Amino acid sequence: MRSERGDLIAILQEVQARFGYLPEEAMRQVARFVAVPESQVYGVATFYSQFRLTPGGRKTVRVCQGTACHVQGEAQILAAIKKEMGVVPGTTAPGGDFGLETVACLGACSLAPNMTVDGDVHGQLTPAKAVEIISRLVEKR
Ligand code: FES
Repeated sequence: MRSERGDLIAILQEVQARFGYLPEEAMRQVARFVAVPESQVYGVATFYSQFRLTPGGRKTVRVCQGTACHVQGEAQILAAIKKEMGVVPGTTAPGGDFGLETVACLGACSLAPNMTVDGDVHGQLTPAKAVEIISRLVEKR
């Protein structure tokens, strides 16, 4: 027998497969359907990095927050991206150039700190290097 949380995750995965992200209205309908508070649906949607709350951008940037990357300064990288590019994790940059997400580990810990752009790993990042890579993405429009 599956847990209520497991059912909720499966339903949210189906919603995301259909829309590409989890629209607010869809999360409200899921809450009514599963008969749980909307806050619980939102809590699950924000806990798991696989879920997006906004439509994706043209590119997807994933910044690793795993232990190795964290120790090597992931927080400063994320802060620089937020400040310079005006985007926070789980959202899309103004203009829709890229969506920013965080992940638990990209499997490239020896290169920490890392991020990926559409799956390509960029390692040994500094805050300036990360912003430069993303800025080049935006310029290529
Ligand atoms: S912790 Fe970042 S790649 Fe593994």
